Amino acid sequence: MCPLTRRDVLHAGVVVSASSLAATSLMGRANQLFAEVPETFAAVPPRERLLMDFGWKFQFGHGSDPARDLGFGVKQEDFAKSGDFKFATEKFDDSKWRVLNLPHDWAVELPFVRDDNLQGHGYKPLGRSYPETSVGWYRRTFEIPENDRGRRIVLEFDGAFRDTLVFLNGYFLGRNNNGYAPFTFDVTDFLNYGEKNYLMARVDASFGDGWFYEGAGLYRRVWLTKTDALHLGQWESYVRSARQTRGTGGWLYLGTLVKNQGTAPENCRVRWQILDANGAVVAKADTPTQTISVDGSATFTSSANVLNPAFWSPETPNLYSALVSVEAGGKVRDAERVSFGIRTITWDADKGFFLNGKSVKLKGTCNHQDHAGVGAALPDSLQAYRINVLKGMGSNAARTSHNMPTPEWVDACDRLGMMMMCETRLMSSNAEGMLQLETMIKRYRNSPSIVIWSMGNEEWVMMPQLQGVRVIDTMIQRTHELDPTRLCTAAVNQSFESHFPEQLDVMGFNYNLGVIDAWHKAHPKTPSVGSETASTVSTRGTYQTDQLRNWLSAYDLNHPSWAELAEEWWKFYATREWLAGGFAWTGFDYRGEPTPYGWPSINSQFDIVDMCGFPKDNYFYYKAWWGDEPVLHLFPHWNWEEREGETISVWVHSNLDEVELFLNGKSLGSKKVQPYTHLEWKVKYESGAIEARGSKNGKVVLTEKRETTGDAESIKLIADRTTIDANGEDVAIVRVEVLDPEGRHVPTASNQISFKVSGEGVLIGVGNGDPNCQESDKDTKRSLFNGLAQVILQANKTPGTITLEAYTEPWPEPHLNTAKLEITTKKVELRPAV
Ligand code: GAL
Repeated sequence: MCPLTRRDVLHAGVVVSASSLAATSLMGRANQLFAEVPETFAAVPPRERLLMDFGWKFQFGHGSDPARDLGFGVKQEDFAKSGDFKFATEKFDDSKWRVLNLPHDWAVELPFVRDDNLQGHGYKPLGRSYPETSVGWYRRTFEIPENDRGRRIVLEFDGAFRDTLVFLNGYFLGRNNNGYAPFTFDVTDFLNYGEKNYLMARVDASFGDGWFYEGAGLYRRVWLTKTDALHLGQWESYVRSARQTRGTGGWLYLGTLVKNQGTAPENCRVRWQILDANGAVVAKADTPTQTISVDGSATFTSSANVLNPAFWSPETPNLYSALVSVEAGGKVRDAERVSFGIRTITWDADKGFFLNGKSVKLKGTCNHQDHAGVGAALPDSLQAYRINVLKGMGSNAARTSHNMPTPEWVDACDRLGMMMMCETRLMSSNAEGMLQLETMIKRYRNSPSIVIWSMGNEEWVMMPQLQGVRVIDTMIQRTHELDPTRLCTAAVNQSFESHFPEQLDVMGFNYNLGVIDAWHKAHPKTPSVGSETASTVSTRGTYQTDQLRNWLSAYDLNHPSWAELAEEWWKFYATREWLAGGFAWTGFDYRGEPTPYGWPSINSQFDIVDMCGFPKDNYFYYKAWWGDEPVLHLFPHWNWEEREGETISVWVHSNLDEVELFLNGKSLGSKKVQPYTHLEWKVKYESGAIEARGSKNGKVVLTEKRETTGDAESIKLIADRTTIDANGEDVAIVRVEVLDPEGRHVPTASNQISFKVSGEGVLIGVGNGDPNCQESDKDTKRSLFNGLAQVILQANKTPGTITLEAYTEPWPEPHLNTAKLEITTKKVELRPAV
C-alpha cells in the first residue's frame, strides 16, 4: 500500500528516473548526435527475455475474400475446435513468403492513392475499401529446448497495428484490438518442447484508432520471456519516491506482485537492491516471507532511503535501477531490473510547474510516432535522434499524442532527459479503454520522464455529457490507484464551461488562447497546462506561399483557424506564471492530416521540423526563447535571381540585445530584440550576401550570412554517427545535400540523388521532408527538397563497414560529383534472441 493519498498527490509531486547523456544540440553538431542503444530491456537471470524480431515471413491476406486470406473464414468453422489452424503448423509452406525483420510497417511501403477517405491517414490504401492491402500475415518458427519444461513462457507483443489474431502450433492464442497497447500470451501450455514451434499472427489494419497516419503490421518488437513458475507479475513492480521535504534522502516506496504458477505452495520473500548509474548498491530492502498457494499471488512492499540522491531532470537525466528478486527455498527464482529516477514534481495553480522544487516551464511539443523512410516502425536509435532534434531547440517536454508510446521512446526520454505527457488512446471506461489505460500506467509508471498522464484528447462528443464526467472520473481514480505519484489531465478544446474540465487534476487547454484567462479566473485552484498549442503551418525552406503547389511560406505567418502562431502562443504562455507551459502542435511533421491542403500533399505541415527532422525556421524561434544558448538565425536564403530589385522580407530570430543587417557589406540598420518576437527588415533584393550581426552588451557575439550560391556541383553526405552497432538494429541517419563550386550548400536544389549501399548494412528508408513528395520512402533514390534529403542505413549483425555512394543519373539530371560515406559497424554483444 502506498501511503500517499489523492490529496497528497494533488499538492505534491513525485518521483522517477534516467541515465546520463548530455543534451546534444543538433544544429552545427549534427554528426555528434548520440544514440546509444540501451540495456534497459535486458533480462536479469534466471529470467530470460529473448528478442523475436528477426527472421519473420510475411504475406498479404485479404480483408474481404477468404480465399485470398489463406482460406481463413471460408467456412464459418475455423474456431470450432481450439486447435485446427494448419497455417500455424509444420504443414504450411511459407517458402515463397517475403522474409523480413521487425519492426515492420507495411503502410509506408504502399503507394499513395487519391481517395479523400484516406486523407487523414496519409492516402495509404488501408481500410475496408482496400481489402488487398489491409491484412498482413506474419509467420515465424522458433525452437524451445526440452529443459524449458516447467518454466512459464510468455509471448509479448509491444504493440501491433491493429486487430491481431495470434496462433501457435495450430492453436488459437487470442486477440488484441487496438494499435498501441502491448499484449501478451502465456504460451507455456501450447509449446512444442525440444522441437520447432510455428507462430502466426494475422494483423488487420482495416480499422484505425486515430485520424492520423498510424502504420500497419507488427511495427513494434516481439519478445519471448521465460521465468520460473514462481515469478514477478508483469509490470507489477514499482518504485515511488516520496516528497523531498525532509532530510537529504530520497525515500522510496517499493512494491511488486509475485505469482505462483507451480504445483506446490511456496514460501517466498522479495529483495530490492537499489543501484546508481554506475552500478553501485546505494540502498537495500526486503520483505517478510509469505506463503503463496498454487495459482495464488501476493503483493510485497517495502521501502528504502537513498542518501543524497542524484535527481533526475532534463539537464541531468540521472537514472537508478532497482534489482527486484523473488527468493524461495534459498534460491533466487525470478528477478527483474526496474529503471527509475528520483525527482519531485509539483503542479501549482498559481505558480505553474516545479521540478525538484524549481520552477520550470514545460517547453513542449506534441508528436506522433512516424518518421521519414520507416513509417511507424522506428529503430531505437531513431527514437533517440528525434528526441535530440527536439532537445536541440531547447525543448524539455513531449506529449505522446494521442496514444501510448513505444517502450523505446519512453526509455530514450528517460535517458536523454525529455519530460513527457503520456497519453492513452481511448478515452473510455469501457473494458478496452480501461485495459489500455491500466497497461500504460503499469508499463511506464517508473519512468521519471513522465510528469503527467493524459486521459484523452478533444473528446467533443463525450465532454459535454454526463457520461463524460463519469468516464473521466473512473479513469482518473484508477490511475491514482495504480500511480499515486502523478496527476491527470485531458486535452480540452471546447465545452470549457461543462463539468468535464472540473474533474481534471490539471486543466489541459488545446488552442483557444481567448478562453484561458477567464477559465483560470473561474477555477483558480486548478493548475493549467497547454496540452496542445501553436501551430504555424509552413514548408521547410520555402518563402512564398503558393497554393498551386501546396507550399506555405516558412515565415511565422500562417496558421489554421483554430490555432496560433509560434510567437502568439509562446508569448502568451511565457508571460503567465500560473501556466505550466505547453506543447506545440507539432514537433515533427507527420504523415496524414495534410493541413491546410489536401492531395497531392501527403503529410502535415504543422511545424517545427519536417518529417526527417530538418529544422524549419521556427525551430530557431523556439531555440532563441526556450534554449539557453545565444541564437542568431537569419532567413530566407539568398538565391532569388528571378526577384532582383524586388522587396524581400528578411527575418531574424535572436535572443541577443540587438541585430544589425548588412546587404553586400552595407548596413541596413540595427534593431533591438523584443522578448519572444522576431526582427524583420524589408530588403530590395540584390544578389550577393545578406548578413546579420548580433550583439550582446554592445559587442558583436554572433554573425550569420546567407550568400547567393552557384549551381550544384557535388553531393555531400553527413551521418549523425559514423560508428554504429553491428547488431542488425542500429541505424545511421544520413543528411544528403549538394554544394556549389565554392563548397556552399545550395538551399534550392531539387536534384534526384541515387544511392548504392554495399558492405555490412542496408538502406531501410529515404525521405526529404517535402509534404507533397510522393516518391517511395523505400526506393534507392530521392529528390532533394530545398537542398536536403535523408537516408537511413541499418547495420547487419556482422561488424565491418557500410559504404553509401550517392550519385545522379546522367540523364535527365545534371551530372554532380559523387559522394561516398563509410560507416563503421562495431562488434557488440547481441541481444539474446530466439
Ligand atoms: C487538434 C488535434 C490534433 C490534430 C490537430 C491539427 O485538434 O488534437 O490531433 O488533428 O488538431 O491541427
